[in-house]
Amino acid sequence: MATIQVLDKVFEPYISHEKIIDAIEKMVVKLEHDMADENPLFLVILNGAFMFAGDLFKMLHFPAEISFIKFVSYSGTQTTGNVRQLIGLDESIEGRTVVLVEDIVDTGISMEKVLEYLSDKKVKDLRIATLLFKPNSYQKHFKIDYIGLEIPNDFIIGYGLDYNGQARNLKDIYKIVQ
Ligand code: IMP
Ligand code: MG
Repeated sequence: MATIQVLDKVFEPYISHEKIIDAIEKMVVKLEHDMADENPLFLVILNGAFMFAGDLFKMLHFPAEISFIKFVSYSGTQTTGNVRQLIGLDESIEGRTVVLVEDIVDTGISMEKVLEYLSDKKVKDLRIATLLFKPNSYQKHFKIDYIGLEIPNDFIIGYGLDYNGQARNLKDIYKIVQ
């Protein structure tokens, strides 16, 4: 199996682009069923979710809008627990159906900060769509409405996910070789 080196670490192929697209297609079927008449706002959590959001948004065949927010939490391969907001909302989302779009929910700390940030915004319905979920690492209790794939606790890169800013451009997802 062809491994790749990113900075000081080695990674091996883990989830193919085809498998990723397949998981997103299944999610889109559920979204279509749940909110085709709601004109939802897809609120993408930058940076990691940009690629997932692009593919997901292209697959939607109902009226929908997209906007972006940015929080930072990660340094290296560990969640720091420190989350800072860098880009916020410039439009009102009151009364809207909002779908938060995230690349991965790991401990859930980052998403909880986003939920706190949105808690006073008076949305009609707030849902969470994440491409990846690490159930064994999850420490929180909020409901995740749409999950692409559940994965073990390994550190992964590619398809928007980075290691110290690198490797977001990879089409496939790779996992760290221990
Ligand atoms: P959490 O706060 O622990 O849930 O972590 C969420 C954020 O950390 C995600 O939005 C990612 O940006 C990043 N993250 C979590 N796990 C990984 C990983 O395996 N590779 C790269 N980034 C990750
Ligand atoms: Mg992220």
